[in-house]
Amino acid sequence: MSSKKVFLLVIAISIIGACNYGKNATDSSDTGHVSLKQLCEKYHTDKCPGGHNYLGVYELFFNPFRNVAKKVAEIGIAQGASLNLWKDYFPQATVYGIDIFDNSNLDTERIKTFIGDQSKRENLQGFITKYGSDFDFILDDGGHSMEQQQVSFGFLFKHVKHSGYYIIEDLQTSIYKGEYGSKPEFGTKPDESNATLTMIRTFINTRFINSVYLTNEETEYLNKTIEYCSVFSTNNNSITCIIKKKDS
Ligand SMILES: C[S@@+](CC[C@H](N)C(=O)[O-])C[C@H]1O[C@@H](n2cnc3c(N)ncnc32)[C@H](O)[C@@H]1O
Repeated sequence: MSSKKVFLLVIAISIIGACNYGKNATDSSDTGHVSLKQLCEKYHTDKCPGGHNYLGVYELFFNPFRNVAKKVAEIGIAQGASLNLWKDYFPQATVYGIDIFDNSNLDTERIKTFIGDQSKRENLQGFITKYGSDFDFILDDGGHSMEQQQVSFGFLFKHVKHSGYYIIEDLQTSIYKGEYGSKPEFGTKPDESNATLTMIRTFINTRFINSVYLTNEETEYLNKTIEYCSVFSTNNNSITCIIKKKDS
């Protein structure tokens, strides 16, 4: 290639680079190429690197359906950082949030909040009655107690669509001798027999769910419809679990 052609090629590459420069997470008009971690520049959820650091794992699972997801839900809203992150990442989806506190100030065309206690089935039924079923995923980042995590999982898994996901975050509250496990608000027994992580590990080893918080009907449904559970421990002593529903 002549030196003139090389020069023109370098100029062209520089122009393309300059056009893309600045197209980062703060450009909300086009987020189709932006990763979950990049969205942390804009939305400071504790799932980001520096916090629990779950987003690298979620990118692997969520990226294949980011442009087709229609309904995603999260228990635990706080200031709404993660609801906004999902809204940008899934351009076709409506994002639903459940929290014990009123967060209706966050409601928009594509974000819908609901007041409810995740440990009360009647509250969860109220959410489903209002917004319907068939979620691409439901993620639990609520109160993190054993009862809250397992009641929500048992009740809501049937409202995840086939091939969808249910995610339970912050399973470190299951570890009694860990930083959080002995805090009374999480209700973890010293022998961890009621712990959510124990329930998941038992399923991985036996393919049967065993939980004192679930009804027989819920247990039977989970045993029939879970395809797999994957547990991820991040470099920040945080543990999340991704549970896949069978495709039929
Ligand atoms: C860790 S914050 C959520 C953070 C948010 N998901 C994010 O990443 O930006 C936990 C939230 O769970 C809510 N919460 C606590 N107990 C709950 C319960 N029993 N039912 C529903 N939400 C609950 C709290 O009010 C709080 O807003």
